[in-house]
Amino acid sequence: MLDTVIAQTSHRAVRTREQNMKAAMIKYYQAPIEVGEVDAPALKNDSVLGAVRAASINPIDDILRSGAIQDMMPLTFPHTMGYDISGEVIEVGRDVTRCKVGDAVFSRPNQTDAGAIAEVARVKESELAMKPETLSHAEAASVPLAGLNAWQALITRGKIRAGDKVLIHAGSGDVGTFAIQIAKHVGAHVATTCSGRNADLVRRLGADVVIDYKTEAFDHRKTFPMKQAAAAYEELANGHSVGKIVVLVS
Ligand SMILES: NC(=O)c1ccc[n+]([C@@H]2O[C@H](COP(=O)([O-])OP(=O)(O)OC[C@H]3O[C@@H](n4cnc5c(N)ncnc54)[C@H](OP(=O)(O)O)[C@@H]3O)[C@@H](O)[C@H]2O)c1
Repeated sequence: MLDTVIAQTSHRAVRTREQNMKAAMIKYYQAPIEVGEVDAPALKNDSVLGAVRAASINPIDDILRSGAIQDMMPLTFPHTMGYDISGEVIEVGRDVTRCKVGDAVFSRPNQTDAGAIAEVARVKESELAMKPETLSHAEAASVPLAGLNAWQALITRGKIRAGDKVLIHAGSGDVGTFAIQIAKHVGAHVATTCSGRNADLVRRLGADVVIDYKTEAFDHRKTFPMKQAAAAYEELANGHSVGKIVVLVS
């Protein structure tokens, strides 16, 4: 997971919003990513400005860069890359009540505010959380997008409960590693697919059943009712992109 963290900014003086800042950006679809100067974001009443200490990159960044989903999620250029931020609050909007200058926070900002791989980022108060002291900025920046994706699939939409049987495809990936832990936290019985080299990893995270997708077809196991699997997957896929997570409620 942590190998997705690609940028950890230095602790040098933070630029103010009146100035330009350095950011990793693209200037058109399929463009190479370049580091250059862009306008620093302006503060809004419901938001904070944060000095980015760490940011991570996810599959969505490259999908957006390719232009493949420009009808659904159009970009404006120059587009600053990155959705996952951990940093320090340097300025607070008028309506912000939960945090103050100097707080360490982490976030997955909305589409308009996205732009994590930069010196300064703007984040809505409603879209940030206090960074736990037990996590470094690099660790915190690896959590929001993948972690929220797993949470939304399992909890918000899947509504899993203790005792449910859950099958998580790609349990060794960014989303899957969160999904296994969330499902176990709820008290579900978890089966997951991954390659053999990652079997120990997913077991350590709590998986009860591990299926090596390279040597075994997961539907050969009779642990889950496949009709329900298909129905649950359809429902999830129709609502949102949930990657490879399949939730089974038996
Ligand atoms: N990361 C995010 O924030 C995010 C957010 C929304 C949606 N998504 C979507 O969720 C999916 C997974 O993303 P990710 O970030 O978790 O990817 P990732 O970290 O690259 O992990 C992908 C995993 O897929 C596994 N895999 C490959 N082929 C497989 C197969 N045939 N059956 C089962 N597992 C297989 C690999 O397991 P082994 O290495 O063990 O072979 C690898 O661990 C993608 O479709 C992505 O677009 C991701």
